Amino acid sequence: MKETKDRNRIPRHIAIIMDGNGRWAKKKGAMRIFGHRHAIQAVKDAIEGAEDLGVEYLTLFSFSTENWSRPQDEINGLMELLVKTITDEVPMMMKNNIRLLSIGDVDSLPPSAYSKLKEAKETTSTNTGLQVILALSYSGQWELTQATKRIAQKISEGKLKPSEITQQVMADHLDTAGIPDPELMIRTSGEFRLSNFLLWQLAYTELYFSPVLWPDFRKEHLNAAVSDFQSRERRFGMTGEQVKS
Ligand code: IPE
Ligand code: IPE
Ligand code: MG
Repeated sequence: MKETKDRNRIPRHIAIIMDGNGRWAKKKGAMRIFGHRHAIQAVKDAIEGAEDLGVEYLTLFSFSTENWSRPQDEINGLMELLVKTITDEVPMMMKNNIRLLSIGDVDSLPPSAYSKLKEAKETTSTNTGLQVILALSYSGQWELTQATKRIAQKISEGKLKPSEITQQVMADHLDTAGIPDPELMIRTSGEFRLSNFLLWQLAYTELYFSPVLWPDFRKEHLNAAVSDFQSRERRFGMTGEQVKS
């Protein structure tokens, strides 16, 4: 493994927009689903790489709210792949003390995917190692809308006053409640946009864009992203002098 510069400055939470499966398949003259199948090895590599680095949370954008607009065949293929991968990987997660979590509108997943996911989350719920968070049927705007509904409900029941809504209250009503914001967000495939990912949580995240198509993404690419992260100065609105002192 290529050593990163500073083992003490490893991000606690890395979020990844795993993009480029379709283009990877097209380059090989294959169907898009072929790219999605080859994405699984990259997911396994990212998990192993995150574990090696000592990352605590890894959020993987797996299926967006907007992805429901894709051709039905592709959606079906992705959902089947989700069920198969979860089924295949639960023993690995148990062996490596990995906990599986999810964010997003999982109720909208097909019943087979919903129940497999639920089962895997329950099976791994007491694991204390890396937390792998799958963003499924997820979008930041959906999540913020949900949070607003939950808060509005509490206000209508008299459990919360409008004046008591703080940034912390907002954060506590998101799907990611209790999870620290990512310090590093990686997007593969050379696209420079957020595509509705973690809009609240990425407020101060360092962004890293890689030209690598997701099925080709390996530990060395993750390590390169973390090395790049370590060369950044995170200022949080302060001056460079303030953060150095
Ligand atoms: C990312 O790869 C996987 C999902 C969005 C589910 P894409 O399928 O978006 O691949 P490209 O962007 O078309 O190459
Ligand atoms: C973002 O990728 C969603 C996931 C990686 C799951 P997309 O491929 O859907 O994003 P756009 O449509 O190119 O912005
Ligand atoms: Mg894409």
